[in-house]
Amino acid sequence: MITVNDYIQDCSLISPCFVCGDSLQVIAKMPDNSVDCVITSPPYYMKRQYIGGGIGMESTYQKYIENLLAVIQEVYRVLKPTGSLWLNLGDSYKNKQLLNIPYRVAIRMQDEQKWILRNTVIWDKVKGSMSQSKDSLGNEYEPFFHFVKRKSGYYYDADAVRKKPRKAHVENGAVVSATGVSGVRYKRKIELSTELTEEQRKNAFMALDDVLNRIKSGEITDFRMVIKGANQRVTNGNTSNLSGRAKELEEKGFYFLFYNPKGSMISDVWQIIPEDTQGRKLHFAPYPEDLIKTPIVLTCPPNGIILDPFTGTGTTNYVAAMLQRKSIGIDMAEEYLILAQERCGLFGLLNNKEMEILYE
Ligand SMILES: C[S@@+](CC[C@H](N)C(=O)[O-])C[C@H]1O[C@@H](n2cnc3c(N)ncnc32)[C@H](O)[C@@H]1O
Repeated sequence: MITVNDYIQDCSLISPCFVCGDSLQVIAKMPDNSVDCVITSPPYYMKRQYIGGGIGMESTYQKYIENLLAVIQEVYRVLKPTGSLWLNLGDSYKNKQLLNIPYRVAIRMQDEQKWILRNTVIWDKVKGSMSQSKDSLGNEYEPFFHFVKRKSGYYYDADAVRKKPRKAHVENGAVVSATGVSGVRYKRKIELSTELTEEQRKNAFMALDDVLNRIKSGEITDFRMVIKGANQRVTNGNTSNLSGRAKELEEKGFYFLFYNPKGSMISDVWQIIPEDTQGRKLHFAPYPEDLIKTPIVLTCPPNGIILDPFTGTGTTNYVAAMLQRKSIGIDMAEEYLILAQERCGLFGLLNNKEMEILYE
């Protein structure tokens, strides 16, 4: 029988590794800096009693948060410096008070555990469950936090998730940018600007011609030009102490914004229908496979190891295996782990006969 540490070290083991036990105790035995990515949805406060017990039914939300933070502190230790943690957490009411639990947890992680919060993704569930409340709104979103351990140099494959770029094309016989910019309006704005010096005006025309040529040659697909005194919305503020762009505007009289030719970055609002409305009913609260595909390709290198300390029916492990990543799934309930194994086995993702459920 192998151990979690054997699994971490053995590159030939590609099937998910399931461990039955309390995540705090299981992770405590794992080596420092040993996993590439952690993706998890812990039990929400006071929502349901899971078969194996565990976190979630504490008498106060403060105790719940303490217990959760203890696991997250251990996660920090086992996560590589290049790693990411994705934490999906829903909120709860007590005595009509919305407790703000996800944000309390996130703020304490930032303030007390050295985590760096890079994004709060809003998981828009598109259609929420029918709200019975007559004095508050129905809830249709959950936060999904992306944390890292260091400011830069963490694994981040932005190109893996970009929106498909649109291409420059011909309209009425003229080459225009992906969003239809031909340059005619910018030329007019340069002409009409009351704030450009003659030197700046001449340079602006030349620079615009140069950019239009780059569009024609296919070197770039799209751009915007901001011109001093042309009544445009300036995205980064227009006082020079606010941004480098404002300074450029002041000194040169114009600047360009170039679209990334590989496509623009996806936003922090993700519309994904929850698992239970997709007809899969394995567990009380599995998260949708689509919710974790982006975190995996974005922040876990191919063949890297993903950890889910509250893995339930193994959605994280299943998607990880489909995307060629190793994974460790911990849960207190053996019943859920058997479902998780069946789920992975069903699709031929459990190839290593020796990968029995481990018990801690
Ligand atoms: C919200 S569910 C996770 C669902 C999972 N994302 C899925 O797709 O099936 C939370 C899980 O945490 C487990 N759990 C609760 N406390 C635990 C603990 N201290 N250690 C390990 N697992 C725990 C529960 O048994 C439950 O399966």
